[in-house]
Amino acid sequence: MIGQAVNRVDGPLKATGRAAYAYEHWEAGQPLYGFIVGATIGKGRITGIDTEDAEGAPGVHLVMTHRNAPAQGPRDESISFEYWRAQPMLTGPDIHFYGEPVALVVAETFEQARDAADLVEVEYRVGRGRFDFGEFEDDTYIPKTVNAGLPTDTAVGDFDAGFAGAEVKVDQRYTTPYEFSMPIEPNASMVAPRGEDLVVYVSCQITDAARDSVAGTLMMDPERVHIVTPFVGGGFGSKLGIHSETILAALAARTLDRPVKVTLTRQQVFQLVGMRPTSDQRVRLGAGRDGRLAAIAHDVTMHTNPDVEYAEQTAATVRSLYAAPHRLTSHRLTALDLPRGTDVRAPGEAPGMLSVESAMDELADALGMDPVELRIRNEPTVDPERNVPYSDRHLVECLREGARRFGWENRPATPASVREGRWLIGYGMSAAIRGHFQGPTTVRVRLEPDGTAVIQTDMTDIGTGTYTILTQVGAEGLGLPLERVRVDLGRSDHPSSWGSGGSWGATNSSTAVHRACAALRTRLLDAACGDTRSPLHGQDPAEAVFSEGDVTIGGASEALREIVARHHPDGVEAEGQTRFMGDDPNYSNYSINTYGAHFAEVGVDADTAEIRLRRMLSVFSVGRVFNPKTARSQLIGGMIWGVGAALEEEAVVDPRSGAFVNRDFAGYLVPVHGDIPADIDAVVLEGYDDKANVLGAKGIGEVGICGSGAAVANAVFNATGVRVRDFPITLEKLLPGLPAMAA
Ligand code: MOS
Repeated sequence: MIGQAVNRVDGPLKATGRAAYAYEHWEAGQPLYGFIVGATIGKGRITGIDTEDAEGAPGVHLVMTHRNAPAQGPRDESISFEYWRAQPMLTGPDIHFYGEPVALVVAETFEQARDAADLVEVEYRVGRGRFDFGEFEDDTYIPKTVNAGLPTDTAVGDFDAGFAGAEVKVDQRYTTPYEFSMPIEPNASMVAPRGEDLVVYVSCQITDAARDSVAGTLMMDPERVHIVTPFVGGGFGSKLGIHSETILAALAARTLDRPVKVTLTRQQVFQLVGMRPTSDQRVRLGAGRDGRLAAIAHDVTMHTNPDVEYAEQTAATVRSLYAAPHRLTSHRLTALDLPRGTDVRAPGEAPGMLSVESAMDELADALGMDPVELRIRNEPTVDPERNVPYSDRHLVECLREGARRFGWENRPATPASVREGRWLIGYGMSAAIRGHFQGPTTVRVRLEPDGTAVIQTDMTDIGTGTYTILTQVGAEGLGLPLERVRVDLGRSDHPSSWGSGGSWGATNSSTAVHRACAALRTRLLDAACGDTRSPLHGQDPAEAVFSEGDVTIGGASEALREIVARHHPDGVEAEGQTRFMGDDPNYSNYSINTYGAHFAEVGVDADTAEIRLRRMLSVFSVGRVFNPKTARSQLIGGMIWGVGAALEEEAVVDPRSGAFVNRDFAGYLVPVHGDIPADIDAVVLEGYDDKANVLGAKGIGEVGICGSGAAVANAVFNATGVRVRDFPITLEKLLPGLPAMAA
């Protein structure tokens, strides 16, 4: 079953509208609707708030502001991960960023709540905020660590000497904008009181974190908070933690003793869930004429919110990518009065690879060397900074296979040399690498006396295919047909997991399912082989085969259902676990990553600089694949994110107010079908990483975006001879450099 292109088991539920999302759990009872009022200044203090008209408006039950909000627990920095910490709201009159919640209006209907929200009158004393990254970019500090607990700076060898002595050098700055996760389903929550308990229906990625965060904020016993999140319409980092939509709904629900639901509007999603920091990255590469790198440096400056530090690990990826004796990486932060930075779609790797892989293309150009060959020449034998072997590195195979399939030999050797009508044609490529993570996860597998299996964990399916692959792993583990395995996810009352994020969800939960099934098999075999009533009596359990609902040893066979019914008339269950990578020696003894190579062809309109992606092919090595269909969908989705990063995505701050000005999908552009050609594909090499886990699989959710934007940017350079280093590459940046139209 593992490795088959099984259709999504939850597909029919979603296609027929029967999959209930956070805002749609009607079983919670008739809810009230909350609407968040946001600050209309970016920094300062509330000096007066008049809620009288709002309170008197039709249908209104409550207007909550900092003056009447219940006491809440503090953010506790001794808790290791931000997403598990309390998120107190409406705690005082100070405004920290534009759009920060200043009130919640709760009414009978959404429309009444929204109308009354307009009647809340807030007076402010406007303070002087720091909003403009460019203005404060030199006023930096050094964070203690960067995201995922990685070191802030690293140094190997003597970079300055190595770079100074290099025959060919690249020394360039690349800038990347604020980006938002932007799943289709906005962040939303419905909270229903049940006596002393709270049932929290919420769109989130990590159930365990949501429970602790709600409990910590409302100062409740976590056992009394029940998170329910069976379906999630995308997360991409914005739902790793919960936000005002959940905390304010919970506070109001407790105050009113009624179910209350709160969704963010699309515009509020651009204010209230955090975003990828903007970055200024300096990349220095020094190489010999043979293309071998002597020195690599990646120095990154980013914004952070002053109260909730977030340092994206943008320079961390290059630490494992290429060989070079002299190396340097650094991260610096400048505090701005903007929403907090947060994990967005391959945090660190995505913006970091965009720059580093553009710089590698610049180096290939300076050397007059094929960019694929340049990367192959710098293939390391061990992880060059950690000095440990790679577990399963197949970057060179990805590069060679991708080049062959794409027809890379047809790449225009000289930039701006190929033209079809009004289109300048160019090819570009890049490498991809992403670390693989493992976290503590427990799964319960239960066999019912009728021979069906139920798999339970608080793991979420954020649209990635968790229901489907866990069904496959369970079916294989117990030798059952797929339709006799049911997967039950997204409830904090189930055994806890690390959730969906960081591309770790599939392997964490699958490995745990595999182990739970193994424990059940052992228990049932021991019972059957030792039981004179079983046809398997006296057989060697080690020879057993579980298939099609039967257990077979040699010539003897018995239905699994019979064994369960005889020995466990009430059913039988076992738990399986995956441990934290820090406690697994493989993760300290090996550098465990996924790899890829991206190839893109673009056309650039010689008159208007309009850029069209014409085709794209990426080849990946990700260990074993659970389901080629869901895997391809994940990988292509990631590649398309990269296209967006290269050409479209950019949130723009008004430096006067600290507001993001393009707060909707009309102004914040992401690739749509019209932007992406039909000729796009992801190919995965056969693989099995025996160091990653017992199933040989690694995460695939984010490796697709790593480097894919650089392949597009490099194709734009190959088409035009113009290098734009300020992402995204929009027309006005490209147009002035375009070659003059031939007569
Ligand atoms: Mo991901 S940015 O860890 O959801």
